[in-house]
Amino acid sequence: MRQAGRCLPEYRALKEKHSFLKLIQTPELAAEVTLQPIRRFDFDAAIVFSDILVVSEALGQPFSFRDGGGVQMKFVLRSGRDIERLNVDGMIERLQYVAQTIPMIQKALGGRTALLGFAGSPWTLANFMLEGGSAREFTAAKTLFYSDRRLFIRLMEKLTSAVTEFLRMQIDAGVDAVQIFDSLGGNLAHNVFDEASGHWMTRVVSSAKDRVPVIVFSKGTNGNWEALAKTGAHVLSVDWTVRLADIRARLPPPIALQGNLDPALLNTTPEVVEAQVRRILEEMRGQDGHIFNLGHGVPPSAKLENIQSLVATVRSFL
Ligand code: CP3
Repeated sequence: MRQAGRCLPEYRALKEKHSFLKLIQTPELAAEVTLQPIRRFDFDAAIVFSDILVVSEALGQPFSFRDGGGVQMKFVLRSGRDIERLNVDGMIERLQYVAQTIPMIQKALGGRTALLGFAGSPWTLANFMLEGGSAREFTAAKTLFYSDRRLFIRLMEKLTSAVTEFLRMQIDAGVDAVQIFDSLGGNLAHNVFDEASGHWMTRVVSSAKDRVPVIVFSKGTNGNWEALAKTGAHVLSVDWTVRLADIRARLPPPIALQGNLDPALLNTTPEVVEAQVRRILEEMRGQDGHIFNLGHGVPPSAKLENIQSLVATVRSFL
């Protein structure tokens, strides 16, 4: 999940000098931002500082940020012509800054900390691209899915190739594992989840899973555990709305689980965080394949002492 960012004073200091895009597109700066949370909290894993939307940009649909929050794509993907224009060829060259960042981070980590690469799922990218940015309710991708299946498939074929290539590039550059963010998977009705999202992730997972462990995060997908297991992911990330032990019981044992702590707890106090971290650890006591993590990214409002409390509680748990 996201761990770098606005909750860290050292990140805010860099943001005063450089835009977000400059930070992610300059390998030295992206490596530095990746390392900031590791220096402070000594997590077991780092995640490359980038964004899922760099793929959209490399395909020809740039993005920026709205004042007051949210992402704005430069234009809305509307027609078959817009979709045809998305340019998968040469995309990897345009994303070379990510490939250059990875060995810099690995060198600094010195083998002590795992490094995760990532990409958005084809479905989640399609939502941002068809909507033209962040939206209160994402409806455009669903409309295309239900009303023009051929064009939907054309777009998903392109995004699946793009995401596959992007992850392959990150694996070649030296990440230890990859995570696919299907942050908008939970918006789908359960009966179409597989067709609209799961199926495409399965293709992405199958191209990576023999090389590195693959983690799939599908937020809010309460009914879709079997479809998620079918993607072939080694690890599923779980949001905070479900009981982790129940999900464990539903899934075949080789699949590991991570996540589940409500990120909003990081706005409370170290004592509250400790109690809730313990609750999850107790619930999973004796179960193999549990990686402690948040159920989504670290919020900008997170208090640093609460992140410390989380790490200390996990590390000292017997
Ligand atoms: O922690 C890390 O170092 C990893 C970096 C990371 C970012 N985005 C950096 C970022 C990761 C893994 C992401 C994934 C991402 N980006 C997702 C999937 C995961 C999720 O959170 O659901 C999505 C949907 C995006 C697209 C995106 N990027 C959104 C919707 C926003 C929020 C805009 C806002 O105003 O809050 C971003 C911006 C973004 N990406 C930030 C960071 C640190 C905040 C940028 C800032 O204001 O400094």
